[in-house]
Amino acid sequence: MRYGYFDNEHREYVIDRVDTPVSWTNYIGTKDMCGVVNQTAGGYLFSGSSEYHRITRFRPNGVPMDFPGHYVYLRDEADGDFWSVSWQPVSKPLDQAKYVCRHGLSYSKYLCDYRGIHAEQTLFVAEDDPVEIWDVVIRNDSNRVRNLSAFSYCEFSFHQIDMDNRNFQMSLYAAGSRYADGIIEHDLYYEEDGYQFFTSNFEPDGYDCLRDAFIGAYHTERNPVAVERGVCSGSAELGGNHCGSLQKRITLQPGESVRLIFLLGEGGVESGKVMRQRYANAAAVDEQFEKLRLFWDKKLEKLQIQTPNDGMNALINIWTLYQSEINVIFSRFSSFIEVGGRTGLGYRDTAQDAMCVPHSNPDKCRQRIVELLRAETRAGYGLHLFEPRWFEPEQKQQSFRSPTVIPTPDRASIVHGIKDACSDDALWLVVSVAQYIKETGDFAFADERITYADGGEESVYDHLRRILNFSAEQVGQNGICKGLRADWNDCLNLGGGESTMVSFLHYWALDHFVPLAEKLGRSEDATYYRAMAEHVKDVCERVLWDGSWYIRGITADNRKIGTHTDAEGKVHLESNAWAVLSGVASKERGEQALRAIQEYLYTPYGIILNAPPYTKPDDGIGFVTRVYPGLKENGAIFSHPNPWAWGAACALGDGKAAMTFYDALCPYHQNDKIEVRQSEPYVYCQFVVGKAHTAFGRARHPFMTGSAGWSYYAATEYILGIKPDYDCLSVDPCIPADWKEFSVTRVWRGVTYDIHVTNPNGVTCGVKRILLNGAPVAQIPQLSAGARCRVEVELG
Ligand code: NOJ
Repeated sequence: MRYGYFDNEHREYVIDRVDTPVSWTNYIGTKDMCGVVNQTAGGYLFSGSSEYHRITRFRPNGVPMDFPGHYVYLRDEADGDFWSVSWQPVSKPLDQAKYVCRHGLSYSKYLCDYRGIHAEQTLFVAEDDPVEIWDVVIRNDSNRVRNLSAFSYCEFSFHQIDMDNRNFQMSLYAAGSRYADGIIEHDLYYEEDGYQFFTSNFEPDGYDCLRDAFIGAYHTERNPVAVERGVCSGSAELGGNHCGSLQKRITLQPGESVRLIFLLGEGGVESGKVMRQRYANAAAVDEQFEKLRLFWDKKLEKLQIQTPNDGMNALINIWTLYQSEINVIFSRFSSFIEVGGRTGLGYRDTAQDAMCVPHSNPDKCRQRIVELLRAETRAGYGLHLFEPRWFEPEQKQQSFRSPTVIPTPDRASIVHGIKDACSDDALWLVVSVAQYIKETGDFAFADERITYADGGEESVYDHLRRILNFSAEQVGQNGICKGLRADWNDCLNLGGGESTMVSFLHYWALDHFVPLAEKLGRSEDATYYRAMAEHVKDVCERVLWDGSWYIRGITADNRKIGTHTDAEGKVHLESNAWAVLSGVASKERGEQALRAIQEYLYTPYGIILNAPPYTKPDDGIGFVTRVYPGLKENGAIFSHPNPWAWGAACALGDGKAAMTFYDALCPYHQNDKIEVRQSEPYVYCQFVVGKAHTAFGRARHPFMTGSAGWSYYAATEYILGIKPDYDCLSVDPCIPADWKEFSVTRVWRGVTYDIHVTNPNGVTCGVKRILLNGAPVAQIPQLSAGARCRVEVELG
């Protein structure tokens, strides 16, 4: 069963059945202002932090679902019938009204046809201003004159989400609204500069600033009393619940259309006046929309592929890059699942996000890397969850103490001890820095001086050394890295027990660091860390091999986890994928590890994390043993580690396995199986329910997941094999033998490489020759910026 289709030409996913089983979301905004909206215009807007700077209200996990949103109602003045431009809130029966939603890159468009009126509402954030634009077009497709009223509606939120949800004795009396000259101002009275405005490019015929006046007692957003009776009440007050509703009466001749622009922005009435003026002419709106299109053009053109796999083409060329960027730009705590309960940056997630898209967003990746380095302790571990502003050199503080503005905690309480450190967190950053320099050639970054969370400052390079040293020191009784609070798997809580995955990760980080040290001329360090890597490899191969696969770890009381005698949690994905991906496993052991993944963990919807799932609590292993079998970390198809197995398969030259794994998880390929998947087919979800559960195949928690960046990285660098290096671009694909050819256009350091790979002998890997503009080369060099060149690669 399908609910929509991919419109690749317009870079949109078109939902032509809007009653999807669960919310299908999208993100608008490319800077600080961000909206999370679904296929019915439900959702919310915030600026910077969805926890501390929420702009519009959302009632998450509610019944009915996904209310409220950023809505436009239409009312036929002839008979009082009313509907909404997006299917919700009014929810006209779908056999009477035609609804479509087009989710695009940082915009969503809602289209409706009802009783001869065609209406469209496009939501996006201006590139140049902190303002959400609602671009509304209403057209009379009937053959009679129509008198209509349009009403906007959004519900303002108290900035701090916790107080908004549960401290009404304060929140209801600390916000006010007023209206003047076509502008609604929402005022958060306890905050300096705590204002929003809602305005339009037309003279309104009515307004309501008070939610309860617009909606009416015992009514809901489905049937607001103002829309029912056809007139707003002109409400505004200091204190209460506030909304943005402007009414416009319109008369349309047959075939005539009107365009209404609504603006929801940061700042008070003065900002509203400026924006009202700036966007008075719809051409200014068109200009911002065009800028948004160019913003994405510039990113997407950095890497475009043409392969025999349509799903891979659509995802890599559009959706997976988009999803990865959304994670880098907005991090992880704003969705319909994460609704403002947490804020800041998760150390490991951010490091991995920044690792995957330095080609399309070098500035943001660099910014994230710097934020992470500042949140590193001198001991070499990262603060698991932190607010970047805690460590910014200049902190803007409000000039008076307000109960609603959360003060920055003092350093001592911010810097957690090793007990709360996760053993993997900072290791990822070593590779993020290496990737960033390989992409940009910005070697000077390694020497940049950056503070530590607990005081002092050193170069980026020295920060990385401390990270590697920390893992070398924090080993358990068998010489494997301690698991500490958790490793990548939040629910594997080994404390002083040992984590296979972290030792492999340590090796991988070292393997990235040594060439960087060499490149920077630090040959003593290169020798030292090369020896460290060899030592890690030896210990891993001695301790972690179980005969047919690698164990997942060792408990503090020295019991193996994931061994052949285990009835539960016998085989784990992370350890076996990382054994190969890291470069630790020999070919023979690596192939056996891959076979274990195929035999025990592979399903048609992707690879499950561990099998069989745990049913008996074992606190020596961790919380994973208390999670329902088949869900989340206990036997679900956790999406984020799946690409690790694609990379592992490629490292072994098994292009068939890599593509089988890729296709299984690929949401595109589930477009016609929504009765099973339920969630959006254009993005990866955090997990897909595993086979031990009755809901096998159901995907949950879209967008905010490390599977975005990792699937992009694994597909482009391992499967398609396009890898930037310090001074060359390497091409080393691993593909199914039946792929005859594929092409990639890759922009690297300002040069466009048009790469065409042919596979005349039907191999899976191995480069026979490379021609650069027709001349044979051993590797693809960096050319002068601005050049465009042709690269022909023959496999064989
Ligand atoms: C989600 C967390 O955000 C991520 O950091 C973690 O690695 C996975 N869960 C697995 O536990």
